[in-house]
Amino acid sequence: MRNFSNYFVLVLIPLLLASPLAVASYKKHINKDKPCKRFVLYYHDKLFEGDDVGNATSAAVYNGTGLGNFKFGKMVVFDDPLTKDRSFVSPPVAKAQGFYFYDMKTTYNAWFAYTLIFNSTEYKGTLNIMGADMMDEPMRDLSVVGGTGDFFMSRGVVTFQTDVAEGIYYFRVKMDVKLYECY
Ligand SMILES: *[C@@H]1O[C@H](CO)[C@@H](O)[C@H](O)[C@H]1NC(C)=O
Ligand SMILES: *[C@@H]1O[C@H](CO)[C@@H](O)[C@H](O)[C@H]1NC(C)=O
Ligand SMILES: *[C@@H]1O[C@H](CO)[C@@H](O)[C@H](O)[C@H]1NC(C)=O
Repeated sequence: MRNFSNYFVLVLIPLLLASPLAVASYKKHINKDKPCKRFVLYYHDKLFEGDDVGNATSAAVYNGTGLGNFKFGKMVVFDDPLTKDRSFVSPPVAKAQGFYFYDMKTTYNAWFAYTLIFNSTEYKGTLNIMGADMMDEPMRDLSVVGGTGDFFMSRGVVTFQTDVAEGIYYFRVKMDVKLYECY
């Protein structure tokens, strides 16, 4: 009997603690529908045409490789305004600074990596975002991989929805920012 209780303490208890059930009870539960912070912003990308310095907010640093018909290799660096409504001339509540490049041969897909920079009375800080923008899909999810300031250590998802695309020089994306880790 004594042997059994030793066995219980030394072997079974550690086994029980390490069981998936025990681990699951320590895991933080994240509900997709209940972000800890959420806001919708409109992102405006006005590509530089060569003579619109006043209005342009982004510029192609490379105009594509000619590989396929979907701008493969084209890379754009942007300093784009984010507004609460759809108007390009509304006062920006944040800036999106970063780049995207087209990286799919068979359709339009851009890979985004950028920082949302907030410097207003409402928020001060940054959110860093990256992911694929599969433009054929009505909704695309990109990852919020981290944050600083008012968004210290935040993580989450940004859902992109094309709001308007006017030729090759202007598009607007609705960005639904949902954070699931807030500190
Ligand atoms: C900026 O855009 C506005 C509205 O589209 C236009 O009236 C103005 O001429 C543009 N300015 C420049 C410098 O392109
Ligand atoms: C970039 O390529 C497109 C065609 O893909 C062309 O219409 C446009 O004029 C080019 N822009 C520059 C700055 O060369
Ligand atoms: C943030 O805004 C303040 C007040 O308008 C300004 O003094 C400061 O330079 C801004 N900081 C950045 C990083 O833009």
